[in-house]
Amino acid sequence: MPHLLHIDSSARGEGSASRRLSAEYVRVWRDRNPHGTVTYRDLAVDIPDFVSPEWITGVFGPAEAANADTKAALEASERLIGEIESADVLVLGVPMYNFGVPATFKAWIDQVVMAGRTFAFGEYGPEGLLKGKKAVVLRSSGSDFDNPAFAPMDFHAPYIRGVLGWIGIADVEIIAVNGFAAEQIDAAVREAGNAIAASAGAASPAA
Ligand SMILES: Cc1cc2nc3c(=O)[nH]c(=O)nc-3n(C[C@H](O)[C@H](O)[C@H](O)COP(=O)(O)O)c2cc1C
Repeated sequence: MPHLLHIDSSARGEGSASRRLSAEYVRVWRDRNPHGTVTYRDLAVDIPDFVSPEWITGVFGPAEAANADTKAALEASERLIGEIESADVLVLGVPMYNFGVPATFKAWIDQVVMAGRTFAFGEYGPEGLLKGKKAVVLRSSGSDFDNPAFAPMDFHAPYIRGVLGWIGIADVEIIAVNGFAAEQIDAAVREAGNAIAASAGAASPAA
């Protein structure tokens, strides 16, 4: 039975393009996978902890400095990592904020990228440990980053591809919309429906 992890990170509610896109993706995916299950996490509501001294000590040691606080910090990470481990597909609604990802999404990344847990340095160099998953990023931005004038400032897509690849999720698809006016965004969201249908309607890794 395939399992999907749905994450949103826009600070906006109703008006959010990335939330509309990710919700549509999950709707199509549920149609295609009637026995599939979904976990939802809203990073704008449940803001992940930031990396703390306790977290760093918990991950990197020294072991004798471990205490209740380092344990609690690692448990918070472990909950988020566990959600990824359980999922075959990650559906990530991630707007562009200041040419990168929202701070809430970055906080989530900082919690789940953990040495010795989600990546390791092996005989052949770094190795991501969360393999066999697909991630779909539903991205919204004001400007069009296919435009060569803006493209060099796109630190969003390369960052997400890079960091997910680092933990082993190499299959990353990005479905992007852009626009400033409401009508422009509405049209872009409608147009993205085809890409969503093609992607969400395809077989999931575990289906
Ligand atoms: C704090 C903030 C920073 C933003 N930075 C950028 C940016 O760097 N580049 C851009 O094209 N759009 C930027 N935007 C516009 C958003 O990416 C755009 O409104 C997008 O639709 C937001 O996603 P949402 O509709 O899911 O909330 C920014 C918006 C906000 C609120």
